[in-house]
Amino acid sequence: MARNTFNSKFGAIAALAGSAVGLGNIWKFPYIAGENGGAAFLILYIIISVLISVPVMLSEFVIGRRGQGNTYRSYINSSGKRGWGLVGGFSLFAGVIILSFYSVIAGWSLEYIYLSLTRSFAAMTPAEMSSLFTDFVNSNRPILWTLVFLVLNCIILSFGVSKGIERCSKFMIPALFLILLFIVIISFFLPGFKEGAEFFLRPKWSEVTGQTVIMALGQSFFSLSLGMAIMITYGSYIKKDQSLVSSALIVTGATVLMAVLAGLAIFPSVFTHHVAVTAGPGLVFVTLPPLFAQMPAGNIVSLLFFILLLFAAITSSFSLMETGTAYISEEWKIKGKPVGRISALLFLFVVLGIVSVFCALSQQSGSSLIVMGKTLFDFIDEITANYMLPLGGIAACLLVGQLMPREVVFNELTSEGKFSATWVRFFYWLARYLCPIVIFYMFINGIN
Ligand code: ALA
Repeated sequence: MARNTFNSKFGAIAALAGSAVGLGNIWKFPYIAGENGGAAFLILYIIISVLISVPVMLSEFVIGRRGQGNTYRSYINSSGKRGWGLVGGFSLFAGVIILSFYSVIAGWSLEYIYLSLTRSFAAMTPAEMSSLFTDFVNSNRPILWTLVFLVLNCIILSFGVSKGIERCSKFMIPALFLILLFIVIISFFLPGFKEGAEFFLRPKWSEVTGQTVIMALGQSFFSLSLGMAIMITYGSYIKKDQSLVSSALIVTGATVLMAVLAGLAIFPSVFTHHVAVTAGPGLVFVTLPPLFAQMPAGNIVSLLFFILLLFAAITSSFSLMETGTAYISEEWKIKGKPVGRISALLFLFVVLGIVSVFCALSQQSGSSLIVMGKTLFDFIDEITANYMLPLGGIAACLLVGQLMPREVVFNELTSEGKFSATWVRFFYWLARYLCPIVIFYMFINGIN
């Protein structure tokens, strides 16, 4: 049977950008930048994204497009060795556990969409407003919304690669960009705009430590969907005549742009309402509703913002879930027959549903779901971003840069000579030497 592909170049870019631009940009980036030197963090993030993440992304594309299979199979096919399947399995595992906490935050955005439709923020007392987020997190509603979100993912993926993933991304990504731009324009008129933009755009190098650099690497990998099996699976769906280099550069540029816009949308409000810039994972859920309460038609703007967050989340989460769906439907058999996408989705729904519920519960005050001093949610977030994703990235670079024949890699990256090899040489060199050494060095320092 012919393998699924994205139908058009735009569709492929929309799906790749949809996977990359996600909660990582809009929810995570602002609060991590806030805690780690503002623009200093942004600059590190951009440098790392271009010099380290782009070559890693290209390596993953090469493995997927050359391997023509799910991540596990693509590693085996591209290397010609079964043992590499384990590396694929490791990245698949990272992706699936990321999805378990990712769905919880995406579920929060569903609650806020519901709130925007049913309650007037303007009519809330300051006390109600300030306890809105904590009361919600401590209730059972996050569990309900997490499961609803997972069901939405399953429905979209049941339509397949082109009709599900590609069609949704082509609509959601442009919509997401327009809504974000609209929110930035609104922020521009806030009293706190100057202070917020300055905080975000002025580098505070004194706050940068070795740990900050490691976090910028983790953030770049997370936001560009690296080391979590996505770019390999999606790479296998990119047609042979599409340029991998321009795809990687466009996706990286769009992701960085969205992170900057998200910072500009959020920090002015943070300063207008005097919320701590280090408010942590709840930042957007805590800072923005008071702002919506004060503006005319605030509930409509709020609805738009949380729809934006939902679109960002779902185009990324279905890419995460697709990695597992492709793996299970292509590798697992029952009575000699492949299990099929629907059964794969059902299986993933059950497993992810269970782990996600634990993640949601671990966010409640006084929860005993603590691992190594952190909530289960924070623990999974940290070990994946800071350790598992970089390890997956090193493996992809080693396979493409050191083990696969140079000619094979160049053929894939230039689409058999259709595209220029100038940038290919540069990124190949980075993937071959710089990336493994730098990532490994940071990884070891991160452990110490
Ligand atoms: N790349 C996805 C995000 O940033 C996982 O949210």
